[in-house]
Amino acid sequence: MSLEAALRAAVGASQVLVDPELRAPYETDFTGRFTGTARCVVRPAGTAEVAEVLRACAAEGAPVVIQGGNTGLVGGGVPAGGEVLLSLARLAELEPVDQAAGAVTAGAGVRLAGLQAHARTAGLDFGVDLAARSAATVGGLVATNAGGIHVLRHGSMRSQVTGVEAVLADGTVLTRLAGLAKDNTGYDLSQLLTGSEGTLAVLTRVRLRLVPLAAQLAVALVGVAGTKEALDLLAVARQRLPSLQAAEICYADGLALVREHNRLPAPFRELHPAYAVLECAGTSPAASAAGSASAGTDPMDELLEALADAPAVLDATVAADSAGRARLWAYRESLTEAVNAAGVPVKLDVCVPPGALPGVVAALPETVAGVEPAARTIVWGHLNEANLHINVLGAQQRAEQVTEAVLRLVAANEGSISSEHGVGRAKARWLPLSRSPAEIAAMRRIKQALDPAGLLNPGVLLPA
Ligand code: MLT
Ligand code: ZN
Repeated sequence: MSLEAALRAAVGASQVLVDPELRAPYETDFTGRFTGTARCVVRPAGTAEVAEVLRACAAEGAPVVIQGGNTGLVGGGVPAGGEVLLSLARLAELEPVDQAAGAVTAGAGVRLAGLQAHARTAGLDFGVDLAARSAATVGGLVATNAGGIHVLRHGSMRSQVTGVEAVLADGTVLTRLAGLAKDNTGYDLSQLLTGSEGTLAVLTRVRLRLVPLAAQLAVALVGVAGTKEALDLLAVARQRLPSLQAAEICYADGLALVREHNRLPAPFRELHPAYAVLECAGTSPAASAAGSASAGTDPMDELLEALADAPAVLDATVAADSAGRARLWAYRESLTEAVNAAGVPVKLDVCVPPGALPGVVAALPETVAGVEPAARTIVWGHLNEANLHINVLGAQQRAEQVTEAVLRLVAANEGSISSEHGVGRAKARWLPLSRSPAEIAAMRRIKQALDPAGLLNPGVLLPA
């Protein structure tokens, strides 16, 4: 039996796509930078079908690339050429919220926005949020240990994962979904698979911790003089705002691009070199007009007081209602889309020690211009984690050289070459800038033990 026939037997003929037109949406990433031809696209509906697919691929020695919502930014979920593309989109089962545990079990194909809505209906929330929420899937978020805008408050995906179900390359199913609060029974395979970028196993279901649902939110967009001043503002916010849950940064050029793309008005009468977005979340109900002894502090009151006492603030505008908050967040959250609309970006996602952030940001234009003088570098990021998203437009022809120059700058400043997007294919070559030879050798031994034929996501994460 051919591999295609075995795959059809596993998932049904209609879920094996061989026609180039049907495969096309799966073969190019969201930025348009990474593209490759898949042998076929397979769409199983559950763990048992994933196991059958992997057994069939293993029997044939066929490499497999795993895809969730195809929102990844490092080329880890699209084929390099000739792989079977395993789409987990149909693993979309969302179990009822377990109130006693404050947790939920979700299929790998559940979209982040769906998970958030589900948790909120039960009076809880999910701790990770990011702009691609309507398309990004739980499996991809776990596989890349995604971060997003609330890491400050709840940590990244790793902090939410308490169990997984996964299928190894030979079809073996590992199920550990109880998510016990205390469980010291050996190696934590759920955490090993979190952030492994589909190189060790295929995640099919995950057990996720939920967090309290914010009763009130307050957002501020703040104009500041630069990166150093944004960090000064962050220091005040961290000290004064126990309710702080997001602290983001973008710059004048990025804001101008967003305004043009989304036809947004200027947030302030004057332009500023940099902008911070702060978000506070109160979990207690709002105080009534008459006052209530049990009601907590309104996060807006706290936020306004902190802003008034922060010398770095040049201008600020705030919102508490949902439309107003969305209006302020749009200046930051639309950056990815606005950059994509302007061209195919070379995207780099790095983390540096906070003290090094102003120096690295200042050095970026010259670093990029040294490779591609005509390129345009748009930077934004998660201020609290000193996580920068460096987007270089007009450098597609010299993508490798730009990547090399920027990642070397980051490594020289003791940073990480991947903060939250993962290594993928885009940065595998540069892994030695962030990991020692001994660490990479240990990772290879783990890979060899779980996927000896190297069939899962070849070329992703570990340098060839
Ligand atoms: C962001 O924080 O905006 C995302 O990580 C996406 C991106 O970097 O484009
Ligand atoms: Zn980000």
